[in-house]
Amino acid sequence: MGQPLPFLQRFHGEVTACDRMQMFHHKPVTIWLTGLSGAGKSTIAFELERQLASLGHASYVLDGDNIRHGLASDLGFDKKDRRENIRRVAHVAQLMNDAGLIVIAALISPMREDRAMAREIVGPGNFIETYLAASVDACARRDPKGLYAKARAGEIASFTGVSAPYEIPSDPELKIDTAMSTPAESVAHIFSYLRDKCLMDTDCTVP
Ligand code: ADX
Repeated sequence: MGQPLPFLQRFHGEVTACDRMQMFHHKPVTIWLTGLSGAGKSTIAFELERQLASLGHASYVLDGDNIRHGLASDLGFDKKDRRENIRRVAHVAQLMNDAGLIVIAALISPMREDRAMAREIVGPGNFIETYLAASVDACARRDPKGLYAKARAGEIASFTGVSAPYEIPSDPELKIDTAMSTPAESVAHIFSYLRDKCLMDTDCTVP
């Protein structure tokens, strides 16, 4: 893993990144949502995807829970497995960006070092680290999946925020306080960022 393989070469097609931007009317970036379980990552990711689609933009959500049913079904939640999970998702995001899609990745991705790795894999210019800030107590109060209760009762090991660490992003492109904003407000915040940075052709609306 990670070693250069002999006898492998890279092939390049004739469709350029510019061609794809003209086709899709946006810059294909990866919006990387990080935050505790229950901070609102999946809700915000799918609402953002819905709104992008309604404007005619092609995007796709890589959601931690969903990915763990397939691509990462062999992985658990220790430090090494989380890092591998993030590495795989980052490579998929990079491929999808290459194909022209906006990617919305929704993973706890608790360690700074692992998020930095994801940024390198995706490409620093295409990576929008978005910290969905909500305290452990706020997430535990919501506890949509009942996991905090189980973790606090010792039924789930290495649970982020309870028995495993979450390192707060030191310099994310975006920080949204999801304990204080509705999902619609959070999505609006991300949209303004995309527009401010001219990452979307705002005229794009597919009938
Ligand atoms: S990550 O740390 O590797 O980025 P990921 O986002 O894929 O995590 O998966 C998190 C989801 O797995 C949570 O939303 C939760 O539903 C579930 N889960 C199960 N066990 C744990 C655990 N020990 N810590 C955190 N989440 C867990």
